[in-house]
Amino acid sequence: MVVREISPGIYAVGAIDWERRLFDALIPLPQGTSYNAYLVQGSEKTALIDTVDPSRELDLITNLVSLGVERIDYLVVNHAEQDHAGTVPMVLELYPGSKVLCSEKCRDLLVRLEGIGAERCEVVGDGAAIPLGGRTLRFLSTPYVHWPETILTYEETSRFLFSCDLFGCHLATSELYCDDFLTIAQYSKRYFAEIMMPFRKSIAKYLDRIGGLPLAGIAPSHGPIYRDPAPVLAAYREWSGDCLSNHVVIPYVSMHGSVRMMVMRLCDTLMGAGVKVHPFDLTVTDIGDLATTLVDAATLVIGTPTVLFGAHPQVIGAAHLANLLRPRARFATVIGSYGWGGNAVDQIKGVLTHLEVEFLDPVMAHGAPDAKVLQDIDRLGMAIRDRHASLGLM
Ligand SMILES: Cc1cc2nc3c(=O)[nH]c(=O)nc-3n(C[C@H](O)[C@H](O)[C@H](O)COP(=O)(O)O)c2cc1C
Ligand SMILES: [Fe+2]
Ligand SMILES: [Fe+2]
Repeated sequence: MVVREISPGIYAVGAIDWERRLFDALIPLPQGTSYNAYLVQGSEKTALIDTVDPSRELDLITNLVSLGVERIDYLVVNHAEQDHAGTVPMVLELYPGSKVLCSEKCRDLLVRLEGIGAERCEVVGDGAAIPLGGRTLRFLSTPYVHWPETILTYEETSRFLFSCDLFGCHLATSELYCDDFLTIAQYSKRYFAEIMMPFRKSIAKYLDRIGGLPLAGIAPSHGPIYRDPAPVLAAYREWSGDCLSNHVVIPYVSMHGSVRMMVMRLCDTLMGAGVKVHPFDLTVTDIGDLATTLVDAATLVIGTPTVLFGAHPQVIGAAHLANLLRPRARFATVIGSYGWGGNAVDQIKGVLTHLEVEFLDPVMAHGAPDAKVLQDIDRLGMAIRDRHASLGLM
């Protein structure tokens, strides 16, 4: 890992994790990730903003040593999750004079998760400022992006916003900056879907505040830095607003082909009616891709066989995940197949409690879909098209 200056006296000192393929024991990382940390040197004080995942602590320490950093006065902890705060204990040990600046909730989490003495922490409230000499750190309280303790740090002289997870993306790249948002938009949207989507209503409010700051750049703690913040701010406004798209997401499992026939028929019907479809065979699906399509799809259709009197366990898992992510979809239903009986439909409805959706009539086949079931699937497709048209999506 190399140290790179992003503004006079401000250095990127974090680590790139090219090899990591799973995050939070859940989220696939097809392109690795990075844990960005930033050193801000004022004429009087030096601050380190965030640290790195404990698996990469050597990279951070090596970077600090190569910069000749002998003193860290303040260690800003925007967020207590271990991928950013996991090396806080090591930094506090190596720099005994340093003090953690964080929110009150973050202090409590650092005590619990990292075993840090509360006396090493100074709580900073919303709007508090810490002068470093020629530079000033100002803190914005932004609870639930995506933990309750989160703050963002704005450096007033450089006009850089250090936004930690917000605006981040899981992408290992040698590019320090992203100067063309389109090149990373898919990773940014995926990250929003996986991490930020459940909190989109709070995020929409924070965007107004962030948009009002004079900004020379946004430096998140995963992925590249934005020298032009406008495109990522515009994308976040879109993803966290109320704008839906004419898309249907269809996660499904089929053991022996019946549900698959129904899903394929629905895809054909919808495409013929001008509606876009995203079928996901859950046995081979990257759940990050599924989450990404849920950001703005207007409809969710879940396909499941009946297994031991209920929905397939893998379908339950995906429905549970979709429910936790709280996508904006306005319509949902279930299609499926059974051999002798069960309650797959009610079970899935019972999982999707956080969705603010109209449930359309489900379609269940007794065994393989016959002509009547396929007609019902066609009717469902037309009902979805009509709903999308009524929202002006097509
Ligand atoms: C392991 C297993 C368990 C099943 N349990 C049930 C059940 O409890 N109730 C039921 O109606 N059908 C049950 N079935 C039958 C399937 O739901 C039925 O064959 C369905 O058409 C399968 O759809 P698929 O071809 O898309 O996998 C079970 C099938 C398998 C393989
Ligand atoms: Fe996080
Ligand atoms: Fe993170």
